Amino acid sequence: MSTPVITIADLADHTDQEVTIRGWVYNWRKKGKLRFIILRDGFGYLQCIVFRPEVDEAVWETAVELTQESSVRVTGRLVADERAPGGYELKVTALDPVHISPEFPIGKKDHGPDFLLNHRHLWLRSKRQHAMMRVRSEVCQSIRDFFYTRGYTNIDSPILTPAACEGTSTLFETDYFGEPAFLSQSGQLYLEPACAALGKVYCFGPTFRAEKSKTRRHLTEFWMVEPEVAWLQFDGLLDLAEEFLSEIVSRVLDRCEEDLKRLERDVSKLEPSTRRPYPRLDYGDAILKLRELGSDVEHGDDFGADDETILTRQYDQPLMVTRYPAAIKAFYMKPDPADPTRALAVDVLAPEGYGEIIGGSERSDSLEHLERQIAAHDLPKAAFEWYLDVRRYGSFPHSGYGMGIERCVTWICGVQHLREAIPYPRMINRLYP
Ligand code: 4AD
Ligand code: MG
Repeated sequence: MSTPVITIADLADHTDQEVTIRGWVYNWRKKGKLRFIILRDGFGYLQCIVFRPEVDEAVWETAVELTQESSVRVTGRLVADERAPGGYELKVTALDPVHISPEFPIGKKDHGPDFLLNHRHLWLRSKRQHAMMRVRSEVCQSIRDFFYTRGYTNIDSPILTPAACEGTSTLFETDYFGEPAFLSQSGQLYLEPACAALGKVYCFGPTFRAEKSKTRRHLTEFWMVEPEVAWLQFDGLLDLAEEFLSEIVSRVLDRCEEDLKRLERDVSKLEPSTRRPYPRLDYGDAILKLRELGSDVEHGDDFGADDETILTRQYDQPLMVTRYPAAIKAFYMKPDPADPTRALAVDVLAPEGYGEIIGGSERSDSLEHLERQIAAHDLPKAAFEWYLDVRRYGSFPHSGYGMGIERCVTWICGVQHLREAIPYPRMINRLYP
């Protein structure tokens, strides 16, 4: 029988067997007649031991030749060993070097963020980035499962659009056969008509903001998930956002234990976010609280990043700030019937100072109100006629929100900057690689 080729994810099924694993040399060290090769194959890490007296001289010579990130097929006997990292070791019998790598640019010494970002394509091989990408993937899958199991239909919104959704100051303009077109800032406007067709819908894709700011919370290209639900009103929207976030956090805690450990994430800080309800705070009360905490924010202002940080330090769960002044929010939001200067809007602010991760609202269902808003925001009405049709033909209450995936992943992983939460970050001064 030929030796089975397995991955490091499947070690447990092959204890005491001879196996072959294909991967890259993550690290190695020597000790007399021993070579320890830490092999990584994308699924995990495995210590492979070459003991000179027990292998052919050619195998020993290959072991000596292998450098960091050389690609190799390793064959040996898999033994369980409690002392080994991961609980297994491979006693090497054969080594097939596929490619000997010259000196890998990312070594053990500390590299600055610019160097690492210029080598993002190689940086992804590091343990920490591996863990981040695994968490991101779990977050995305849990989102799809959340909506799928609740009967939502996935609707893909276009990337090339004729008009703005979230304000004209962050639009990426491009030439569309002689006409201006804009990269989508949000799929929302396209979801609203779709929820009249399908009831509960969501989109999940890349969105673009020509953010001139260089903060750690802004990317120019980021991924957003946006549900939109027919007949859902403001209170139901708050419940949905809460159920959604608590489920994502629970699932990542459940399935990404190893990755979070590798990221040295203090998971006790995430556990409260698996529990519901989350605290809810009216915008007016949030302003009072912020002023008590020493901020000079005024009623009517949007919160700055510092305000969000000091406010959320008061809670160990995501904080839902509701009913913002209509004047500082998007044109499509429904005014609060109890006080039309306020919008039925919610921002969900992550704990530990991570800031806004979700923004949403009940949508205006009045044609007249939206026509006035489009004029007040100086938007080109002709480009929104199709959107207004949602109010012309069977208008109905509906609500939705958007969550930035990188904001969520950054928080869950406990890292400082959004740039590590996306495989290839795009920022004001970065388009490479
Ligand atoms: O609050 P925003 O601008 O809301 C919308 O786009 C709505 N149309 C969504 C909806 O109701 N369907 O953006 C939503 C979320 C933010 O809370 C944040 O998580 C993320 O998108 N986000 C960004 N993430 C990274 N970089 C940026 N420049 C971001 N801008 C927004
Ligand atoms: Mg927002």
